[in-house]
Amino acid sequence: MFFAISDRLGPAHLADTNIELAVTYTVVRDSPEKLIERLDAHAAEHAKSPRDYFESVRALNAGEEQCGPVMRDPVAVAARFVYLNRCCYNGLYRVNKSGRFNAPWNKQDQFKFCAETIRAAAGALSNTKVTAQDFRKASPNSGDFVYCDPPYDKTYNQYSADRFDDDEQRALAKLVRTWAEAGVRVMVSNSDTAFVRGLYSMGFHIHEVAAPRPLNRDGEARGPVSDLVLTSYEI
Ligand SMILES: C[S@@+](CC[C@H](N)C(=O)[O-])C[C@H]1O[C@@H](n2cnc3c(N)ncnc32)[C@H](O)[C@@H]1O
Repeated sequence: MFFAISDRLGPAHLADTNIELAVTYTVVRDSPEKLIERLDAHAAEHAKSPRDYFESVRALNAGEEQCGPVMRDPVAVAARFVYLNRCCYNGLYRVNKSGRFNAPWNKQDQFKFCAETIRAAAGALSNTKVTAQDFRKASPNSGDFVYCDPPYDKTYNQYSADRFDDDEQRALAKLVRTWAEAGVRVMVSNSDTAFVRGLYSMGFHIHEVAAPRPLNRDGEARGPVSDLVLTSYEI
């Protein structure tokens, strides 16, 4: 979403609880050439022994001590994040209940990445603040546009050890309603379930959209499904 509209945005703020994701976007923005250099090094090591190398990088678990290792070498954290994303099954970001990344290897002998895409992303992010934070910490102003892309109801919630459950969905819906009442233009995406429809039935416009679901475990079920886009304003 952000990269699709970045050329039409003024100053923007991207936030997610995943500290490694936030560090990665920060490094892409501030140090793209250093990141590309580290990714070249990952590619060279991966080519020598793909499976062993993937498993050794995955075992590093950069996020374990949160800010400690991240602050010491953010470029290494970002390079690991991009490498694992490109070399794991389906680009799946999945952690176990201890917060340890555990997606399996995609069985590809080469690790490929596009340096030009990283440079283009750096340009798109140049006027953007990136933070690792819970959605409850956001404080948009009247007239701002906020897009929320939470873990989807009844689909997949293994982004972090703290699973995004029904109470989290309720808390998000309640908070965005207060923002909307204060004049913020809010858009939320989520699954098309009775629970989500109920949460946003007051004050939100409900739109059905066909969306790809590339992370479905069942390959046959990976085609488009109906999702919901909920807006506090008319489209
Ligand atoms: C459907 S994904 C969206 C990811 C992102 N928009 C993208 O396109 O790459 C849901 C995201 O919600 C984040 N998340 C989970 N709990 C959160 C919370 N309490 N506050 C903020 N973000 C959270 C996860 O880390 C995950 O990245």
